[in-house]
Amino acid sequence: MAGFLYTLLGITVGTTLNCVQREQISPCTCTYTLNSGGSQEQTAASIASTAQKIDIACEKMTSFNQVVNALRGNFNNYTRLNLRISHSSLDDLAHVNGTYFKDLGISIRTLNMSLNNISSFHPDAFEYMDSVAYLNLANNLLTTVPTDSLLHMPRLKTLSLGGNKIQELRETDFKGVNDLYSVVVSDNEIFRVDQNTFPANLRRLAIARNNLTTFNDSLKNLHKLEWVFASYNDISDLEGELPVPSRLWNLNLTHNLLTTIPDDFYHQSSLEHLELHHNKIYNLGGNLKKFRKIDYLDLSHNKLTSLDDDDFLECEKLEQLFLDNNMIIDIKNALLPLKRIIRIHLQYNSLTKFSLSQVKGLSTLRELDLKNNRIERIISSIEENYTLGHLKELNLAHNEILTLDGFLHGLTNLSKLNLSHNQLCHLSLSELVGLDKLALLDISYNQISTLSATSLVKIKMLEPSRRHACFTCTCYYILWES
Ligand SMILES: *[C@@H]1O[C@H](CO)[C@@H](O)[C@H](O)[C@H]1NC(C)=O
Ligand SMILES: *[C@@H]1O[C@H](CO)[C@@H](O)[C@H](O)[C@H]1NC(C)=O
Ligand SMILES: *[C@@H]1O[C@H](CO)[C@@H](O)[C@H](O)[C@H]1NC(C)=O
Ligand SMILES: *[C@@H]1O[C@H](CO)[C@@H](O)[C@H](O)[C@H]1NC(C)=O
Ligand SMILES: *[C@@H]1O[C@H](CO)[C@@H](O)[C@H](O)[C@H]1NC(C)=O
Ligand SMILES: *[C@@H]1O[C@H](CO)[C@@H](O)[C@H](O)[C@H]1NC(C)=O
Ligand SMILES: *[C@@H]1O[C@H](CO)[C@@H](O)[C@H](O)[C@H]1NC(C)=O
Ligand SMILES: *[C@@H]1O[C@H](CO)[C@@H](O)[C@H](O)[C@H]1NC(C)=O
Ligand SMILES: *[C@@H]1O[C@H](CO)[C@@H](O)[C@H](O)[C@H]1NC(C)=O
Ligand SMILES: *[C@@H]1O[C@H](CO)[C@@H](O)[C@H](O)[C@H]1NC(C)=O
Repeated sequence: MAGFLYTLLGITVGTTLNCVQREQISPCTCTYTLNSGGSQEQTAASIASTAQKIDIACEKMTSFNQVVNALRGNFNNYTRLNLRISHSSLDDLAHVNGTYFKDLGISIRTLNMSLNNISSFHPDAFEYMDSVAYLNLANNLLTTVPTDSLLHMPRLKTLSLGGNKIQELRETDFKGVNDLYSVVVSDNEIFRVDQNTFPANLRRLAIARNNLTTFNDSLKNLHKLEWVFASYNDISDLEGELPVPSRLWNLNLTHNLLTTIPDDFYHQSSLEHLELHHNKIYNLGGNLKKFRKIDYLDLSHNKLTSLDDDDFLECEKLEQLFLDNNMIIDIKNALLPLKRIIRIHLQYNSLTKFSLSQVKGLSTLRELDLKNNRIERIISSIEENYTLGHLKELNLAHNEILTLDGFLHGLTNLSKLNLSHNQLCHLSLSELVGLDKLALLDISYNQISTLSATSLVKIKMLEPSRRHACFTCTCYYILWES
């Protein structure tokens, strides 16, 4: 039949050929999409390729047999279909002599069976399903990986088992699906995973919100792994768990129980995106310093108390660094190597001093958040050229700053400066000279009782009714007119 040619006269003809009349497949529905740009004359084989897309959806079915009765005989079997069955009772898929997928007589490319309360399948339910590349069994009641079913789908690339009741992942669970590329088992109750569970070609693993205390050597041989999402588990140790050599570029382990960065982490220098917030990390131990590709690093909500000069030594591509909500007293010169940094969050720490020399030369820095620390003074020195020309937002609210000491000089691009809730007694215009782009200055909740006459000329109250307040104890928003 390969040479059989016919002409497609646009979507209408395509629809009658491939998406039968609505009532014939009721209560299921069908949508047909033909990607534009293809030639008008096509072979059957080319039509069966990716140019066309047929999506069938069946909801609220009372049995799988009902799906079979609706669809059987209504689709030719050389087209690959996308089938979704949800909010249905499919108990017959578990019965001996039940109605199974082979009874549909269609060839399925993607199968979405999420949200059906399925707890098991008969081993033969998925017989002859060897064209399936994507299988979604999320949000059902499975207590184990349906290994026997997967054996019928040797071409499976993507599998979602999220939101089930699986507790263990065993060594034989994914046998037979060697091309598996992406596995989602998030939102289960997994507390055990055996060493050789995952197929060697795995690239993406989502195993967030489970009860894992360890990866138990299950990842270390997966050299093609690119992503691991394992937030909200109870993992306390990662030492030796990640593959070497590694292609891992996105690692998400937020909300776990890590206390340190593993010593062998330097092998993971392919990492670009690392999220470790909400752990119990108290020490970086210099183990991030070789991350030459990293551009996003979130270490917020941990237990860090200080940084060392070389903590980010080779992190030259880092653009966003989140260190907020730790207990950091001293950042030393740790930030100086960050030549491409755009955003640094250091709010809610325990810094008592901050020197502009600690961000010296970070000419790409746009946002620095230092609010809610205990900073009394921003140290700066006019002899040095700090090149903070891009800095746009500086938040120093809720500190203990007594005086500005001219540290704002040189921050020529600053547009938002928050100095509220400090101990400032005086603000003179000379402090703000050169800040031509300043659009928002918040000096509310300080001890300012006088503003020099010249500053009054240039500074306009955002809310005129508050003008009086500025001369007593609390100042409100002030808008700088340039
Ligand atoms: C398609 O259906 C025909 C006739 O029902 C059958 O002979 C053939 O084997 C089927 N092909 C596939 C790929 O299932
Ligand atoms: C699945 O179970 C839940 C809870 O028992 C129920 O509310 C829901 O209607 C069930 N869904 C189906 C498709 O049976
Ligand atoms: C299943 O079907 C076979 C053949 O049709 C029959 O011999 C067998 O008794 C059936 N089993 C059950 C449990 O119904
Ligand atoms: C799978 O089906 C569920 C339930 O109908 C739906 O919410 C989800 O978007 C579907 N997923 C895909 C990838 O089509
Ligand atoms: C670790 O794997 C071994 C076998 O590979 C298994 O016996 C043990 O239960 C697993 N432990 C955890 C916590 O996963
Ligand atoms: C998994 O963790 C959740 C939340 O911490 C807990 O409620 C549940 O009992 C745990 N389940 C198992 C099997 O340990
Ligand atoms: C990492 O995981 C957290 C928690 O599940 C999530 O909020 C965040 O979006 C994830 N990050 C990425 C890049 O997916
Ligand atoms: C400070 O930097 C600017 C711009 O890069 C440069 O023109 C100027 O010469 C530098 N000043 C000193 C004292 O190095
Ligand atoms: C101020 O910011 C603009 C826009 O981001 C930038 O083009 C300019 O170079 C910056 N000025 C300095 C002195 O860096
Ligand atoms: C300045 O910071 C304080 C405290 O975080 C906040 O309430 C206020 O809204 C900020 N001001 C501006 C103008 O954003």
